[in-house]
Order: sequence, then structure tokens, then C-alpha cells
Amino acid sequence: MIQEDTIKQIKERIDIVEVISDFISLKKSGSSYKALSPFSSEKTPSFFVSPSKQIFKCFSTGKGGDAIEFLMLMDGLTYIESLKYLAKKYGIEITESSNENYSSSRQSKKESLYIILKKSVSYFKECLNSIDGKKIAYSYLIERGFEKTTIDLFDLGYSLDKWEDTYLFLKDSGFEEKYILDSGLVINKNKKKYDRFRNRIIFPIHNVTGKIIAFGARILSDLKDQPKYINSPETMLYKKSEVLYGIFHSKNSIRSSDKCYVVEGYTDVISLYQKGITNVVSSSGTSLTNEQIKLIKRYTNNITILFDGDEAGVKASLRGIDMILERDANVRVILFPEGEDPDSYSRNTNPSLFKDYLVENEIDFITFKVNLLNKFIKNDPLKKADTIKEILISISKIPDTIKRSVYIKETSSIIEIEENILISELNKILISKNKFELNTESGKKVGVRNKKVVLIDNAIDLQEKECMRMLVSYGTSEIDSNEINRSSFIKYFLSEIEDIKFKNKNHVKIIQCFRNELSKDNVIDTNYFLDNGDEEIKNEVIDLLSSKYELSENWKQRYNISITEEKEILKKATYNNILRLKFRLIQKMIKDNIKLLNQKELSIKMEKEIILDHQKLKNIEIEIANELGNVTSK
Ligand code: CTP
Ligand code: MN
Repeated sequence: MIQEDTIKQIKERIDIVEVISDFISLKKSGSSYKALSPFSSEKTPSFFVSPSKQIFKCFSTGKGGDAIEFLMLMDGLTYIESLKYLAKKYGIEITESSNENYSSSRQSKKESLYIILKKSVSYFKECLNSIDGKKIAYSYLIERGFEKTTIDLFDLGYSLDKWEDTYLFLKDSGFEEKYILDSGLVINKNKKKYDRFRNRIIFPIHNVTGKIIAFGARILSDLKDQPKYINSPETMLYKKSEVLYGIFHSKNSIRSSDKCYVVEGYTDVISLYQKGITNVVSSSGTSLTNEQIKLIKRYTNNITILFDGDEAGVKASLRGIDMILERDANVRVILFPEGEDPDSYSRNTNPSLFKDYLVENEIDFITFKVNLLNKFIKNDPLKKADTIKEILISISKIPDTIKRSVYIKETSSIIEIEENILISELNKILISKNKFELNTESGKKVGVRNKKVVLIDNAIDLQEKECMRMLVSYGTSEIDSNEINRSSFIKYFLSEIEDIKFKNKNHVKIIQCFRNELSKDNVIDTNYFLDNGDEEIKNEVIDLLSSKYELSENWKQRYNISITEEKEILKKATYNNILRLKFRLIQKMIKDNIKLLNQKELSIKMEKEIILDHQKLKNIEIEIANELGNVTSK
């Protein structure tokens, strides 16, 4: 357990912008920060961070909370782990009670696995430095040109040439059998347990925060009947398609250089890193998955893929790259000379020449593809139409219109086909895509009559939310502070909404909290909701607090008011907001009333009453509309 004081100290030190910036690139937007959501694959940013409130909110997934919750969501950390992570980040020492037992069943499974893997890494490193390890494994790494600092930095290790060495080590360390098996380090076959990795170089795989989540293990000599690499199976900690080898070591460099090199293998990453090219990751032998692209896009939009110099491999990878285009990233390609991969080439070249090579040979992906396929067409003219189509499909994936037309021009000049023909073909592809979208949209179409009611309902919801936003934002404020008769915002607000029935049940609860506390002469600030109690209410409050940023643009345009002004004219802003809600509610009542009037069997008396009501409601509507300066309203 972490001591209460330490937790307090950590919490005081947290800067949510700093914490989140370690994972994604935030852009300043007014008083808050904006980014593409790391929790979904969106194209326009809907992820907001508020430094003043120290909270984040993701509108595409509805997730939100403080820095600790961000870490829990982002990296699957537990609460305690997040605190530890933050303590480490801010150099705060943690004093823990000492009776923590590795195998304790109190610890979550995930935590146990993390601990097992961490412990294994130190063991594999020990083995690398043992007499046997030095002789066969360490020497191998040195021979390959890996320096000691690099070996240490990437936590490289060695698994001994024995059947149950790792297994026994883990058992002796006190780990429970079931966790040892779940870690993927030990295979259980026909009731016999043996080590997965034997006599291999161990490449630990780190997640974004630097925790070990899996291993790749390379054979030492090229034995024919054995695979070069054996990797950890998928576990609770390791989903292969979501992980990039090297991301922990390279993420800062990727962000600062605004570029990410993608190579094929573990050794490529390490070699490049050692040469000073530290913005590099590996997809571990496969083409990039959607998840991996998303991960890179947290840090940069510029992805450069390094290909080994064999054409067959390149062709196989082309299709995978279309996916990156679709994600609106700038994809570039570097091809290495025949027979070389980034690792071998970097070893054979001095660092500055190697860097020059990367700069000089980098070409944009579409151009690369066109050139490559063009060579291929020359050998087989019959394939021309298919090939052009393939290129156009790639171009059609690019969301940006201007970029598309630049590529069309270029393709036209390389393949020697008129630009117009290419444009019309591209349009066909684009239209067939759009048609599909149109079709799906019309499928959802609602009747016009229903639509009106839906619109009013929406307007009520929005306006109700807007009132609630003011309530939670200014709960502790004073209004009319220049009057002799100072009064609190909260009293004013509550009296103004006395005759309004709020729809959303969370809103009702929040208002009730304010009422209760006010009756005890207490004022509530945001922390009241964030710190204790109801999860649902807490999320609602976060939602409301962040909706400010969403609405602020609309606000400026529609009501010509900015948020700073709102604070200065709090009383007026509150009054107007509540009035707008009343206006919407009245409109809804009018609509409902008309519905009643249209019912079939209606007594004359009833009809009269409804018409009378209608007139009253209409009068109120006009009155409010006038007051809102909205005279033309229906
Ligand atoms: N790979 C794998 N299993 C294999 C072969 C390859 O998982 N049997 C993955 C590994 O992640 C490897 C990557 O594919 O790093 C690229 O393969 P390769 O180029 O053969 O390996 P390198 O990492 O380049 O290793 P080396 O330089 O030692 O040949
Ligand atoms: Mn290699």
C-alpha cells in the first residue's frame, strides 16, 4: 500500500497536460488542449484536456477523468500502478509496507504477470552475463555490433540451453504455477512443463510505458529445423497486433522529430537506434495493423517504411500500406539495396552516410508504388489497366483532395496516361464509395413529422445540458459582487429553476446535491463530485465541464458571447440560459398540445380546454422570445 501522504503529494504534483503528452501530441486550443482520441480511430480531434480542471474528456468514446484515470485507461494500469508511474515520473519516493508477496492472490492477475515478466528479464540478463551466456550469447551480440549500452538499454538477455531452467527459477521465486503458465514463458504439454525459450537471445518487448509484456527469442545459430524467432503467445498483457517493438524507447524521439521509421525486425530497431536514429519501431515481421498505425499516430503523422532490398517482399507489403493512407498519414518509403536490410546496411555504413542515405532515398509512397508498378507494366503491357486501377485505389484512400490531385498529376506523367482519364477513373471510384455512404444514410431517414419532435427534444436536451454546465462550473461563484447585497450564484440559479423539471436523471441528482448542501449552508465545488461517490454522476459532471469547449465555438457565433465574458456577466448569462431552456420546454408543450388536439375522439369541452391552453402557451412563447430578442420565432 502507498501511504496517504505520498498519494497526496503525487496528486498535487500532477500536471495532466504533461502526463497525457507522454502518450499523445496535444495541440493548444483556447484554454484547453485538443488531440485525436487515443481510444478510437477518429479523424477529427474530439479529445480534450483541461489544464485548469485537470481533467480530460474524449467525446468519441465518452471516456473522461483525471490523469490517473487516463493512465488506467491508456495503459491498463491499476490505480496503484498509475500512482507509482506518476511518482517515478515526478521523482517522488514511495514508501510501501514491506510485506508484499509476489504470489499473493490479492494482487490482480495482470499485476502478477507484469511482475513475473519483469523478474524473468532480470534473470535472462543474469544468464547473459553468466559464464555460458558470455561465451555463446554475449559474444554473438558483440559480434553483431551491438554495444554494451545498447544491450543494457533494450534489456537483452539469454535463455540457457536447458529444458526447465526458467520454470524452476520462477517457481523458486515463489510465483504461483498458474501465473507462470499464463505468462507464456513455460509450455505445459501432456502434463510436462518446459521452457518456451531455450538457448536463445531474448528480446524483451516493452509497452508504451516501458513495462515488459512479452518476448521475442532468436536462435543463436541457423539450425534448419528450428524457427529463427520464437515469440511469446498472446497473453493478457500481449496482443501482438497492438504492439510495436521499440515504441517505449522511441516515442519521445518520434514526437520531437515528427517522424516514425518502421522496420521489419527487432535487430533493425536496435541497430538504427545505436546509430542515433532513435525514432524507429518494428511491426515484427508483418505489415502494420490498424492498431499499430493508431499507436504511431499518437506521436506523428509521418510514417516512413524501410524495406529490405528484395522486390517480392515489397510487393507483398504494398496493399497493407493503403490502410495507412486511409488514416490520413503521410506515408513514405525507403528501399535498401539488394540483399541489405536496415540492420545490415547500417552496420556496413558510417552513421552520417547512413543518415544521408535515409534522407536521400526517401520517397513518397504513391510515387514509389507508381514507379514500381510502372516497371512491372513495361514487362507486361496487358497488366496495365489492372495496375492503374490499383494505383487509383490507393490514391482514392487519401482523404485530402489537394493531395489526391497532386498524385494524379504525378502518376499521369510517370505512366504516361492523360491526367483527365485518370481523374475520371478516380471519380468513378470515389463516387462508388460515396454512393454507399448515401445509401446507408437514407436507410436511417426519419419521417419529417417525427423529425420536428426529435429536433425539439434535442434542443431541450442541449439547453438543459448548457444550464447544468453553468451550475457545475460556477457552483462556488458569486454574482453581483459589487452590490451591497452579495448573493451566491447557486442561490440565484436554484431559485430560477424552481418550476422546471429536468429530464436527465443525473441532472436531477446533481441539482439535488446542490440543494441539500445549500440547506446546510455548504457550497459545492467540482471536486465534491469528482472525489466521492457515484461513478455515473462523476462522469456526468466531467461531461458537463468539458462540454464548455465543445459549445464555446457555437456560443461565440450564436450568442456573440465568449466564455470570459460569461463569467463577468454571470447573472445575465444564467438568466438567459435558463430562459432559453424554458423557451424550449414551452415549445415542446405546444407541440404535445397540438398532438392532443389531433386525437380522434375528443369531447367539445376537452377541445376548448386544449385550445385555451394553446393560447396561453403561445403567449408565453412570444413573451420569452421577445425577451430573448428572438421575436421572429414561430
Ligand atoms: N519473425 C518472427 N518469427 C520468425 C521470423 C521472423 O516473429 N520465425 C519476426 C521477428 O519479429 C523479426 C522480424 O519478423 O524481427 C523480421 O524477420 P527477420 O528479418 O528474419 O529477422 P531479423 O530481426 O532481421 O533478425 P536477423 O537480423 O538476426 O536476421
Ligand atoms: Mn535482419
